[in-house]
Amino acid sequence: MVAFLSWPLVVLVVVVMMMVLAGPTSCGAAGIASDQATDATKVFYNRVPKAASTALRSIISDLARHKRNLKFVSSKVYDDRKRWSREEERANAERINFVFETNFDQHVIYDQHVRYINFTQFGLQQPVYINMVREPAARIVSSYYFARTGDSSKREQVRRKLGEQADWSVDECLAHGDNCTFARNMGGNLMTKFFCGHADVCNRVGPAALEQALYNLEHNYAVVGITERFDDTLALLEATLPHIFRGAVRLRERHGIKKSNRNTRAGPTPNAETIAAIRHSARYDVALYDRAVDLFERRLRKAQQQQQQQQQEQPLKRPSRPRDYDDDD
Ligand SMILES: *[C@@H]1O[C@H](CO)[C@@H](O)[C@H](O)[C@H]1NC(C)=O
Ligand SMILES: *[C@@H]1O[C@H](CO)[C@@H](O)[C@H](O)[C@H]1NC(C)=O
Repeated sequence: MVAFLSWPLVVLVVVVMMMVLAGPTSCGAAGIASDQATDATKVFYNRVPKAASTALRSIISDLARHKRNLKFVSSKVYDDRKRWSREEERANAERINFVFETNFDQHVIYDQHVRYINFTQFGLQQPVYINMVREPAARIVSSYYFARTGDSSKREQVRRKLGEQADWSVDECLAHGDNCTFARNMGGNLMTKFFCGHADVCNRVGPAALEQALYNLEHNYAVVGITERFDDTLALLEATLPHIFRGAVRLRERHGIKKSNRNTRAGPTPNAETIAAIRHSARYDVALYDRAVDLFERRLRKAQQQQQQQQQEQPLKRPSRPRDYDDDD
């Protein structure tokens, strides 16, 4: 019945955690690599498009509705995915930092479809980053159909520009060779760009940009979830950022899977050859995704071990609740 802690309890939990951690993770958020829970209060979800971000957003906004001390700020700017100049990056870092600072007494999650922003180079506090990644071919195909048939505000514009090819399936499009606009970059390794950011090295997708993206993935993101493992992603978010995400798994159970199934007005699934061509073109995203899955599994295992340990160490401090193995006893 009481799915969420009231805020005094959350404060208590946070204070206890600060005392327990009493280390650099509890005061500075810069460069947090999450092997443990953190109480950082400002979270930036620079969400990768078509990677269950709508599903995660709806859970975050439900959490924010239930938690008085949690504020969710969702950007209305949907279409700024390019690499910025240093001045543009500074202006945006300051704009987002302003959102965090004006809500200094609350936990804030800010989300926008943008590349990773480095706040510290402008003397600003780096927020804790989270994101989600998805198997690259599936993400790109989803994005292909969404741009043509989805409820995006740009759909009509896209359809006018593409003319008759707007109605081609992915397979049909590639069969048209150079006449297929999509064939020119096939999604353009967008995930690598999102994790790389705005540094010079991110200007061209290649091994150097991938290296920077992998560095950020490992060192500058608290949690990078996996679309194909959405429930485990929520569990890892709860374990890593408990003061913000506690209750997420339960909300998901209550919603069922409805919310992640929005936007499935897709189109025919491409054949194996087409998928292979997309994965080849998106090879940097494939490498990033594979690394993200490894990292995710490592962090999830560790979080589960820590949870078990805590349960063994302090069984009496936990509120009594029905054991879930009563039936077997
Ligand atoms: C930001 O950029 C500076 C300079 O390139 C680098 O030293 C620092 O590690 C970066 N910080 C983050 C959090 O990305
Ligand atoms: C591309 O379009 C042009 C003009 O409509 C057409 O002549 C040509 O055959 C098309 N090429 C392919 C590979 O479909």
